[in-house]
Amino acid sequence: MSELNKIALQILSNGKGILAADESTSTMTKRLDTVKVPSNEKNRLLFRQTLFSSSAMKNCIGGVILYDETIRQKTSFGKNIPDLISSSGSITGIKVDTGAKMLAGSNEEKITEGLDGLRERLKDYYKLGARFTKWRGVYSISEKYPSNLSISANANALARYAALVQESGMVPIIEPEVLMEGDHSAKDCFNKTSEVIKKCYDELELHNVDLKGTILKPNMILPGKDSNEKVSNEEIAELTLECLKKNVPSSVPGIAFLSGGQTEVEATANLNQINIKNDTNFIMTYSYGRALQQSALKFWSKDINNIIGTQEIFDHRAKMCTLASQGKWSENLEKS
Ligand code: 13P
Repeated sequence: MSELNKIALQILSNGKGILAADESTSTMTKRLDTVKVPSNEKNRLLFRQTLFSSSAMKNCIGGVILYDETIRQKTSFGKNIPDLISSSGSITGIKVDTGAKMLAGSNEEKITEGLDGLRERLKDYYKLGARFTKWRGVYSISEKYPSNLSISANANALARYAALVQESGMVPIIEPEVLMEGDHSAKDCFNKTSEVIKKCYDELELHNVDLKGTILKPNMILPGKDSNEKVSNEEIAELTLECLKKNVPSSVPGIAFLSGGQTEVEATANLNQINIKNDTNFIMTYSYGRALQQSALKFWSKDINNIIGTQEIFDHRAKMCTLASQGKWSENLEKS
């Protein structure tokens, strides 16, 4: 087993998932604004160190994705953040893209940037303790989008990123996110997501990326936020599994979904159904940002010094997600 494959399996095995706490400062500021907490370095650290010190870290969270600011911080009790994460047996990850900018040649689409100087930045992150990384490509659905240009340009960037990350001894998370915004049907999401994922694997192969040492972070197959279509958790699971079975090579060890704007319970219920129906060899787990943090953030904002109370909320959410990644979740456990 290669070292990278070992790291990927350590992050994803035994029902564990990933805490995506890699919001850029501007995204974190938006999140903090909604709960009326000032977004400064101290508060961003306090919320994050509260989560990273919780008991769920040992039982549920196999890896944490950080943002550049956080990987360099020390907790208020003097510990480096990567050391805090590894003290519970979890692995430190880092977002290495520098965000999505307008794609030249297409009026309304985006391309993710961050390849320039990436090799050197990766060396630095490795020294700081990171063993896996994330890069997110974004695609929106409408009649003419995503265009072939955006599908192809983002897949190329993801593959170049993944090859550099493996060269530096870390596991790349490949995140092509087809957004929920819009009134498209679940079938549209299925078709576009299939095209996007297929192109990513064509490029990854071309760039000689060892798929056993990667993790895929896709969206689930859902109707658009503004669509009136009613789709059950079972149907979402079936469409999602069909899309992944058709387009993801079997050497990929695991798939960790993003939550993408689903509520906490929706993201949990859908993951649970995916695992009940999972007839593949892929591990299917979570790499949630909002669907792990939302309730904890809301609670914390009422009293930012209530560490224990905030951790209880986070522990519950992580436990529900970990049950879902084994197909063992049910709605009545939410009340426990
Ligand atoms: P959400 O789960 O909030 O979609 O965030 C996951 C993520 O990492 C997006 O890049």
